Amino acid sequence: MDCDVLIIGSGIAGCAAALHLADAGLNVRVLTKASNPHVSNTYYAQGGIIGQCDGDTPKCLEADIVAAGAGLCNPTAVRQLAEKGPSLTREFLLLKMGVPFTEKAGKPDCTAEAAHSLRRIYHCDDITGRRIEISLLQALEVHPKIELRTSTMAVDLITNTHHSTDLLERYRVIRCFGAYALNMNTGEVERILATNTILATGGIGAVYLHTTNPGGATGDGIAMAYRAGIPIINSEFVQFHPTTLYLADSNERFLISESVRGEGAVLVDRQGKAFMKDFHMAGDLAPRDVVARAIFTKMLNEDASSMYLDLSGVAKDMSFESRFPNITRSCRERGIRVPDDTIPVVPAAHYFCGGIKTDTDGSTAVPGLYAIGECACTGLHGANRLASTSLLEGLVWGVEAARRIAEKSETVPVECTRSIPEWDMPDGAMADPILIQNDVRQLQTTMWNYVGIIRNQSRLNRAKQDLSQLFISIDSFYRQNRISGSLLELRNMITVARIVVFAAGRNSRSVGCHFLESGLKPDSRK
Ligand code: FAD
Ligand code: SIN
Repeated sequence: MDCDVLIIGSGIAGCAAALHLADAGLNVRVLTKASNPHVSNTYYAQGGIIGQCDGDTPKCLEADIVAAGAGLCNPTAVRQLAEKGPSLTREFLLLKMGVPFTEKAGKPDCTAEAAHSLRRIYHCDDITGRRIEISLLQALEVHPKIELRTSTMAVDLITNTHHSTDLLERYRVIRCFGAYALNMNTGEVERILATNTILATGGIGAVYLHTTNPGGATGDGIAMAYRAGIPIINSEFVQFHPTTLYLADSNERFLISESVRGEGAVLVDRQGKAFMKDFHMAGDLAPRDVVARAIFTKMLNEDASSMYLDLSGVAKDMSFESRFPNITRSCRERGIRVPDDTIPVVPAAHYFCGGIKTDTDGSTAVPGLYAIGECACTGLHGANRLASTSLLEGLVWGVEAARRIAEKSETVPVECTRSIPEWDMPDGAMADPILIQNDVRQLQTTMWNYVGIIRNQSRLNRAKQDLSQLFISIDSFYRQNRISGSLLELRNMITVARIVVFAAGRNSRSVGCHFLESGLKPDSRK
């Protein structure tokens, strides 16, 4: 075996698992396809992570998660996160990793976000994810039991059915033995054998035309797991963040954190009129799916290209610039003089509530394979995620999976892996980048227009048809060309897009962030 545990992904989930496994004495190899290991959804997180705050209890947090999730959450996973999460934020991130959370009166400052009953979110100004990722990677890079490989992209999982009939006979069940990975500098594919493998590959935002996610959020781990026959669940639940900066000349969507509304900002229309109370009794702090739909509906009804965030309600004793330095800088670079100007905002694809089906210890249906963080689905979020639970989810299940693997201390006999072949690289040419870009854009546009914030059956049917055609072309394109990072991402994106579309088409119940036009009715959540 090349390592005890192969971890694919170096965001909060992958790093938390790696550090715990390595501390338990296991040899860990961490892969990231990015040349800079910081690049991940984690790095971009703004608002914060739930921590231990005065007045909060696990019961209260559980109730908020379940309410935001429209009652479809897995109660065991919710309890696990509510009971273990906040103390992990404090003990592991704050005290052990030294994450510099913003303080008030000598304690971490607890901020507010939509659909939370109280202020319970630790933050580092508005760059929480960046600070967490930097601290975790610093610890990971100096740990003697961890090898971090950048520019190394997992292509597919190695399982006995795929790759060795000898192993199939020996193990009787399908098992995972590692992954094939592309060295993006040399173009070679390496066979990496591991006793246990953890997928921590993050989300799928890049399958949508407008997203808060970085371009690498192409659902690779989910597609790999799907190809290995593992169930992918809750896939119709794609969360759209209500407030991203609207730029007329760009598809890019810079996040304007929900904590800006948590601190008192209000959504207004072109005339400066606040409108959220017309949609939900919690107004600007309604669940995220409700706010995203409200903005989208107002834009459609008023033929407007955005709505606006009015910052005049942000507490007068708070300097907007020092509380939200990153947002201030990004707005001012684009000529928006915050906090005096309003910020033009539109919704964008943000978070995948579905994912690789896992148990509450991160294990999947295939022995030897775990999935954690945004690529996994324990059922925690139900039909819609409560703000600032996702970094915490990565942390909690990173630790849980590590604990499980360390406790099991499995070994795989060396002779078992001899029959696993090296990657068979076809002789094809490099794929034409223009063809890849065009397929990517077609897929993203279809997902945005037909499988977006407000869905209906005719749009979903059209999306199924169009994406199925595209899948056939991409599949033969993949088989005929030499693999590259962008070709692999395209192949994974079409796989994941179809998973989402088919799940959405199967679910005729309009709920949470799977909203069907025919299901238009007032939201009964408080
Ligand atoms: P990621 O952090 O996305 O890491 C994925 C890793 O997998 C990366 O290292 C990537 O390079 C690697 N990878 C992917 N595919 C491959 C492959 N094929 N081979 C090798 N490596 C691969 N959540 C909160 O709780 N609070 C917030 O305030 C918050 N703000 C957010 C703001 C923004 C703009 C965004 C985009 C998200 C935000 N979220 C927030 C959500 C949260 O950041 C993510 O859900 C969470 O960070 C996911 O962590 P992860 O470790 O699962 O994945
Ligand atoms: C935000 O800061 O608004 C994002 C929070 C989250 O996605 O949890």
